[in-house]
Amino acid sequence: MSQTTLPDAESRARTYAEVRAHLESLLDGEDDLIAAMATMVGELHNAFAYFHWTGFYRAIPDEAARMLVIGPYQGGHGCLRIAFDRGVCGAAARTRTTQLVPDVELFPGHIACSSSTRSEIVVPVLSRGGTLLAVLDVDSDHEAAFTDVDQQHLEAICRDLGARFEAPGEARS
Ligand code: SME
Repeated sequence: MSQTTLPDAESRARTYAEVRAHLESLLDGEDDLIAAMATMVGELHNAFAYFHWTGFYRAIPDEAARMLVIGPYQGGHGCLRIAFDRGVCGAAARTRTTQLVPDVELFPGHIACSSSTRSEIVVPVLSRGGTLLAVLDVDSDHEAAFTDVDQQHLEAICRDLGARFEAPGEARS
């Protein structure tokens, strides 16, 4: 289990404010989704010591089985594809709601890409028109690493990302 000392709410909020300011500047005018995802993953992963795997799984609309396919990530190898009916990521994609998992051992069907993962948070990313674009998955080797502060800010970051893009076929508003 990780020996990382988890920061308190005030410290987390301060770091998220810095990350979001950096992203605002770094992504200004960026219209490529993969470039934006890669930038976000790098910023987030390097800002929080308890983020041991940080990455996106993209929702592939033309997959008959409704599939998530790995996107930009940092950390050890992640599984390449996840069907919507599997894992924590599939639950976030299916329900379009954040999955905050304090103990992955207690989550039915959790997919362990690393045996050291103890807790996880997965946040859906919806396009400007409300289509599921991806999910943001963050794993920690620390038990119960993620709190409401992480959820609040990661949801805001994913909202900001999704609002920048339309899904294929979405009419330009
Ligand atoms: N734990 C995730 C799978 C992705 S690996 O952790 C990067 C899940 O259960 O969906």
